[in-house]
Amino acid sequence: MNLTVNYINDKIGGFTPEIGIILGSGLGDFADNFESIIIPYSQIPGFETSQVQGHKGRLVFCEINGKKVVMMQGRYHFYEGYSMNTVTYPVKVMKKLGVKTLIITNAAGAINSSFTPGDLMFITDHINFTGTNPLIGKNDDSLGTRFPDMSEVYSKKLIEKAEQTAKKLNISYQKGVYAATTGPSYETPAEIKMYSILGANAVGMSTAPEAIVAKYCGMDILGISCLTNYAAGVTNTPLSHQEVIETAARVKENFKTLLLEICTQL
Ligand code: HPA
Repeated sequence: MNLTVNYINDKIGGFTPEIGIILGSGLGDFADNFESIIIPYSQIPGFETSQVQGHKGRLVFCEINGKKVVMMQGRYHFYEGYSMNTVTYPVKVMKKLGVKTLIITNAAGAINSSFTPGDLMFITDHINFTGTNPLIGKNDDSLGTRFPDMSEVYSKKLIEKAEQTAKKLNISYQKGVYAATTGPSYETPAEIKMYSILGANAVGMSTAPEAIVAKYCGMDILGISCLTNYAAGVTNTPLSHQEVIETAARVKENFKTLLLEICTQL
């Protein structure tokens, strides 16, 4: 950890990011709009190389309207074979670099049939269906406690701010519970029915592990899902990664506008 943090601090020379943003599917190029210091994951001691198509795999440090920000362009997914430790390591590093607020974005399937693909959803809570927990293992007391409270992972205050911002920008949004699976297969209709009965409104293959670790580290978290498709069985259409990419691309501009304004308001 010290090796990683020292390496990055050397590169960014005195820059202390306060806001961290994890850019999900289709949102990666948000980071390209700002003058920045870029560090590829492949050069960072302790990081591994991201493999998902369309993800660049690098940290981008920049200022957004006066706010110091670090963005993850590309994230590690458990389904790629990375350990939960690898998946959440960058969050711990962000904490050590000074990040206090973490905005986690993702693409997700809509379970709630009153939602529409293309909607943005502020995550109010999650259900961790990955079958594991990123905090398993020896506890690092310098980051957080052994048994961290998860009763408000996603900050109510931040959701309220995000709602106000969305309203101001005339961007419609939903709110709901995110069910996290491991993937990489999409869910079966029976699984989606189960998740629905259990209280989930959207489903995706990321975010919960990162959010658990961020909360453990004492960060304020805002989670935003881009609902790219109806989850399996909500309609009769089969799911495809292509649809996910296409919908994410369609709403990208709105998502970017919202993200920019939320950062400014923080
Ligand atoms: N299920 C899981 N992950 C997803 C989905 C989905 O329907 N859409 C985008 N990511």
